[in-house]
Amino acid sequence: MTEASSDEPGIFEIMHTTRSMRRLKPDPVPNALIRQILEAGVTAANGGNMQRWRFLVVKDPKVKETVAAYYKRAWKEDAVPRYRAGAPSPGTSPERFQRMLAAADYLAEHLHEAPVWIVPCLEGAAPTRSTGSSIYPAVQNMLLAARALGLGATLTTLHLRFEKETEAALGLPPDVHSYALLPIGYPMGRFGPVGRAPLADFVYENRWGEPYRDLSQSPPPPPG
Ligand SMILES: Cc1cc2nc3c(=O)[nH]c(=O)nc-3n(C[C@H](O)[C@H](O)[C@H](O)COP(=O)(O)O)c2cc1C
Repeated sequence: MTEASSDEPGIFEIMHTTRSMRRLKPDPVPNALIRQILEAGVTAANGGNMQRWRFLVVKDPKVKETVAAYYKRAWKEDAVPRYRAGAPSPGTSPERFQRMLAAADYLAEHLHEAPVWIVPCLEGAAPTRSTGSSIYPAVQNMLLAARALGLGATLTTLHLRFEKETEAALGLPPDVHSYALLPIGYPMGRFGPVGRAPLADFVYENRWGEPYRDLSQSPPPPPG
């Protein structure tokens, strides 16, 4: 494990700039970095520390092409009509939302070109509503680790619309299920701040709908 030096961004700056990076270079990623990302994943909280997680690292072009074709179908057939019909996400301008859709469209066209995928899985035949809580902390740790290492990544789930087909293409056993697919590579663009609505839109105090009073104080200075 390597420790951060003082000129590296701290954890808050990393969190504030861990955006979905959907435009990735096809250049290979050193195995040592993938290993660091995986090590960050398995430090995460998980139910009872049972560690039923499994992580499939995919570099095989054939497997990526097969799964990416299903992902593209899900994007075009389900997601695009839904997003085009809806309002921009909270805290985002229509222009920024359009840029996000363009980037997501780019990813759908180029997913197979990402040099490495990590597919986080859990053992267990019948996933329930709470099952994902034992894998998504690991997913977030891996996204943060990728960002800290200068690698771009995105939490994607659209392949699950074709769950049977994509899990067969990934060669998962029947009692293992995938919960995400993280394409990872060197980003074409630069990391920047995530776009979110103000905290006051989401946080209440004591009773639902009551403003959280601490938010009336000035926010801490931005990281960096
Ligand atoms: C549960 C979940 C599923 C997601 N699935 C996809 C996906 O299939 N494809 C994609 O491009 N982005 C996907 N995203 C990324 C979100 O679109 C993204 O986090 C959101 O737009 C906020 O943008 P940011 O991550 O750049 O801050 C997913 C995110 C989450 C949390």
